[in-house]
Amino acid sequence: MKLLVTGGAGYVGSVCAARLAESGHEVVVLDDLSTGHADAVPDGVRLVEADINDVIGDVLAEGYDGVLHFAAKSLVGESQQEPAKYWHGNVGTALALLDAMVEHGTPRLVFSSTAATYGEPDAVPIAETAPTRPTNTYGATKLAIDHAITGYARSHGISAVSLRYFNVAGAYGRFGERHTTETHLIPIVLQVAQGKRDQVAVYGDDYPTEDGTCVRDYIHVVDLADAHLKALDHAEAGEHRIYNLGNGLGFSVRQVIDACREVTGHPIPAEVSPRRSGDPAVLVASAERARTELGWKPERVELTGIVRDAWEFTRSQEAR
Ligand code: UFG
Repeated sequence: MKLLVTGGAGYVGSVCAARLAESGHEVVVLDDLSTGHADAVPDGVRLVEADINDVIGDVLAEGYDGVLHFAAKSLVGESQQEPAKYWHGNVGTALALLDAMVEHGTPRLVFSSTAATYGEPDAVPIAETAPTRPTNTYGATKLAIDHAITGYARSHGISAVSLRYFNVAGAYGRFGERHTTETHLIPIVLQVAQGKRDQVAVYGDDYPTEDGTCVRDYIHVVDLADAHLKALDHAEAGEHRIYNLGNGLGFSVRQVIDACREVTGHPIPAEVSPRRSGDPAVLVASAERARTELGWKPERVELTGIVRDAWEFTRSQEAR
């Protein structure tokens, strides 16, 4: 298929673009490089460096079989400080994309959604039927886009799939996580092992969990990317399907730090700090629907393996 990958110079987008190209698809990346990196675009893949809002009509006029839409603002804290950046940047841009898809008859869409659409869960593991009550602007904008996609798919016959990611981690060779502003646990802990930070702050140890720290479902970025390939194959015209992507396994902040110590051999000093606002105690996915309907099965579920891939990537960046 000829596929447009928006945000394909970012972390998840670049891994997906690489896996799609390796599977024989013709891939074009559209990215404004506001947070992505030109050298994260896989070899042989064309990069259109532009703002989606400026060029999406002209790009889709070339004729595409589908779009994988990753381009977005994704910092929870920033979304609380600067909501307009997220409502315009995420929702406004997604609507421009949907309008252009309708105008040019682009038949398929796979959208990068998030567990943040659920907010504080009533029960874990979280299934797609759980109430959606986002606790931050980032999650609210992704949920709004999901609602828009449902309507566009039904009215215009688009085959649409939203994938709700839990905590994405790991790397795929030269494709990995390198944010200018890093807020995610694993990259921050690895920066301590690298000597770039003195210690990691553990945001709260008084949660109702076994060791008092927050529990999350860490999913390897390659397993995540492979779900996108399956989603493309299983999308149905006029339907919007939603799938959670996680391993169904929960690891605490302390367990993640221990795994990083084991992988890096570094003592990684950690200090308990106050809770971070908006952090639910436990977020673990039920990905049964993806397993049953997409035939997806995550294969890199071991936490140390996920951390090892992230660590190899981190060190390769240091050597550059
Ligand atoms: N944490 C620390 N210290 C740090 C960084 C994080 O203790 O320096 C803790 C957080 O409080 C949280 C856990 O580590 O309990 C994981 O935090 P991340 O920031 O890595 O990830 P989140 O669970 O906050 O967020 C992830 C995605 C979001 C998505 C959310 C869905 O990164 O995009 O899951 O719940 F919205």
